[in-house]
Amino acid sequence: SPSDPDLVARARAAKEKLGDKVFVLGHHYQRDEVIQFADVTGDSFKLARDAAARPEAEYIVFCGVHFMAESADILTSAEQKVVLPDLAAGCSMADMATAEQVAECWDVLTEAGVAEQVVPVSYMNSSADIKAFTGKHGGTICTSSNAQRALEWAFQQGEKVLFLPDQHLGRNTAVRDMGMSLEDCVVYNPHKPNGGLTAEQLRDARMILWRGHCSVHGRFSLDSVNDVRERIPGVNVLVHPECRHEVVAAADHVGSTEYIIKALEAAPAGSKWAIGTELNLVRRLANRFAPEGKEIVFLDKTVCFCSTMNRIDLPHLVWALESLAEGNLVNRIEVDQETEAFAKLALERMLALP
Ligand code: 13P
Ligand code: SF4
Repeated sequence: SPSDPDLVARARAAKEKLGDKVFVLGHHYQRDEVIQFADVTGDSFKLARDAAARPEAEYIVFCGVHFMAESADILTSAEQKVVLPDLAAGCSMADMATAEQVAECWDVLTEAGVAEQVVPVSYMNSSADIKAFTGKHGGTICTSSNAQRALEWAFQQGEKVLFLPDQHLGRNTAVRDMGMSLEDCVVYNPHKPNGGLTAEQLRDARMILWRGHCSVHGRFSLDSVNDVRERIPGVNVLVHPECRHEVVAAADHVGSTEYIIKALEAAPAGSKWAIGTELNLVRRLANRFAPEGKEIVFLDKTVCFCSTMNRIDLPHLVWALESLAEGNLVNRIEVDQETEAFAKLALERMLALP
């Protein structure tokens, strides 16, 4: 839908008034009305790196979700303030692993006698507490664009990986990209005693996958892949690695949001694509590449916005920018110092991956 011209003018004016004091980051899943004001757009890896590369900006306005804003706060200096235009923009996957649950899991691994062999690898889509746990136990963060390199690094440090909180990214990377078998993976369910696993299962496993998932990407099914191949002969199926294993196994290409964009930029005219990721991004790409003769469709016909990403809308962005322009710091995301120190260790290990 076209943006309200009055709000567009207000956002522009507030941003102009703030000048170099503000830097606006926009994740690829953001609405068109918001993304037009982003100084930089990216996947979660790129945005973490770009946030850290702007030491002169007093305010980082993060158009994305809570864990991304936390990561930006961790990676920027103490003087820089990170602002999330709507505090209710969380991530249901990140909420699936709490600090208490993960501490309990570590106790279970210790009881089973395997904790010493385990290196935690946590997906960026996790709270600062989980990142701190990861750093404290010698692990690293990963995103969908470097999960394989993170796992390769982790398997140089230990024999087993505890992968948090997205079981699909963990399984897809281990099995599709690294040649492990499904039998090498077990799923730890935080809602069951001992994670629903025996000590023997934990001893045999190489990948201990946390039972978390993305509710948006979880809606794509093997049927969606089969249907689109039938409807559009010659279609290339390109999906995000948060999709379920059978979807990823049936797809032609798999990658992060940034990877998806690059793949479509490089695609020849006349090619046809079905994309399995969030709808704002897929629509934007379909519109952008239609004039070049690239046909881009959504992998599943059921509407699939990420409802929390969508909470950042133009009214919230205008409110945040105008408040900052008036010297009023709103919706600051600030990670406490102790959490930050360990979380930063884990994030820096990721940034140092080859
Ligand atoms: P990307 O790192 O691929 O942008 O993914 C972030 C995300 O939340 C996907 O659901
Ligand atoms: Fe979280 Fe899924 Fe939304 Fe990404 S798409 S922010 S993983 S709920």
